[in-house]
Amino acid sequence: MNNPHPHSKKDAVPSALDACLNRLEVNSTSSLADLFAQEPNRATQWTFKAAGITLDLCRTPIHDNSLKSIVKYAQSQELGSKIRQLLSGGELNTTERRAAHHTALRDIFDSPASGHQQMARHTFERVCELADQLGSGQWLGANGDPITDVINIGIGGSDLGPRLVCAALDHGQLANSERPAVHFVANVDPVELDQVLATCQPSSTLIVVASKTFSTVETLENARAARQWLLREILDADLGKHLIGITANIEKAVEFGIDAENLLPLWDWVGGRYSLWSAIGLPIAIAHGRQYFEQLLRGANAMDKHFCDSELNQNLPFLLAALDLINVNVCGAQSAAVLPYSHQLALLPAYLQQLCMESNGKSVRLNGEHVSYATSPVVWGSAGTVGQHSFHQLLHQGTGNIPIDFILPLRPNKASTFDDDARHRQLVANCLAQSKALTEGKSAAQALQELLAAGAGQEEAERLAPHKASPGNRCNTIIAMDELTPATLGALIALYEHKIFVQSVFWDINAFDQWGVELGKQLGGPIDTAMSLGKNSSSETDAATQQWINNYFSANSR
Ligand code: F6P
Repeated sequence: MNNPHPHSKKDAVPSALDACLNRLEVNSTSSLADLFAQEPNRATQWTFKAAGITLDLCRTPIHDNSLKSIVKYAQSQELGSKIRQLLSGGELNTTERRAAHHTALRDIFDSPASGHQQMARHTFERVCELADQLGSGQWLGANGDPITDVINIGIGGSDLGPRLVCAALDHGQLANSERPAVHFVANVDPVELDQVLATCQPSSTLIVVASKTFSTVETLENARAARQWLLREILDADLGKHLIGITANIEKAVEFGIDAENLLPLWDWVGGRYSLWSAIGLPIAIAHGRQYFEQLLRGANAMDKHFCDSELNQNLPFLLAALDLINVNVCGAQSAAVLPYSHQLALLPAYLQQLCMESNGKSVRLNGEHVSYATSPVVWGSAGTVGQHSFHQLLHQGTGNIPIDFILPLRPNKASTFDDDARHRQLVANCLAQSKALTEGKSAAQALQELLAAGAGQEEAERLAPHKASPGNRCNTIIAMDELTPATLGALIALYEHKIFVQSVFWDINAFDQWGVELGKQLGGPIDTAMSLGKNSSSETDAATQQWINNYFSANSR
């Protein structure tokens, strides 16, 4: 593992980062119990609010001195200027010489200023018009049937964002909605598309091919199969009523066979994993309507304004990034868990995996030198309370300290229709209990006393006590909202987007490219070609791969 404090080369970032981390290391010896003892008002002092989000950092190692050190480091890295560049479309994606101007996509409801905002507003209106035509039954298929099903074919940022938002805003009402059912297909494994097609009819289905580059193999292969499926009932000349595209590559989409008037634009100043606010969000507008999509964007815009305008020591994205700097680069955390106590947010960890790890899973600095410190941790998680019956054992008694973000909507989207229904309250109580348990733990002495009080003999109690103790002192935040609405969901996602950006400034890396995924794509083509040519192909590959190509033929030749 990268030593977080090696002897760094004499240049701006490592020495400034080293100095900051060295100060943090000195200041981060207090346990959570110590911090609560030193700061009687810690519970309220370390709670911050913005854009409908409440961030509670009191059960984390952060304190005034460490925050001051990190603010000082951030200022030395000109974070304020870089935030303004981000929000104004500066060329922050330095390797691809592009802006990362996803914030323009949601800054469109007041007086759109820049060209980007005007393009975004125009496209937003086209997206909503199309969604309304589909939702009202005005858009008819070739045979005159209303569209009852929409299948979004895309992967990564062309799938995870709309898939998350459609699910997060569905508290059971979509099943009875008059609007088309929206399905998502991402994997090139034929089973995923087959499972969806089995529930649809070509005459009443619209296929959305979502791909910024229109060159992602998985998406194109699935799109080809879906088009063949449509042609079982639809004439080729009528495909325009059942096939639309969302892309920055108009030429390739038209070449594929999508009518130019059925294309919604994307732009190179929006990264794929930052694109749900763009036309990629079409499935959101189709499933939930214009109002929800607008409120989602407005919520994210509210967080953007907070990120731009607030002092760093009150700035929610900055505070989360500051905490990560302590956890990753001082405490050595190599993974971080996001545990939404909300079934509707079950897909949030998967979404954040791409957002966080495709952005900051880097090891080369902006100047091309290898980093001398750790960067993004592995991000993972699943919805509570389910995780409590799966991996929480490790969180409580494992050997590593895995920082946790608990995501907690405090009230459900709708009142229960069952008598004496305590389930949502119990969901919240479980989240609070997990946070308390991870913070306070249970000493062996406490466990011994509990066992004795429960009637265990001294010998049995002493035998079991070490096994029942939990160390506690485990960093965990609570990120809450009164209710999970389109606006608070937008603000939550923007909070993470901006945290990730601040982290990239701390680590002096480019959060907006993804060269690491190119090698796999490059190697996949020739291997697939070799496998398509049959057993006797003279594929020029290594022995380990070749044996599996042979195994593939054996398994498929029976
Ligand atoms: O994973 C690599 C990647 O380029 C992502 O960044 C992107 O979201 C995904 O593939 C899909 O790309 P496209 O939208 O161009 O099909």
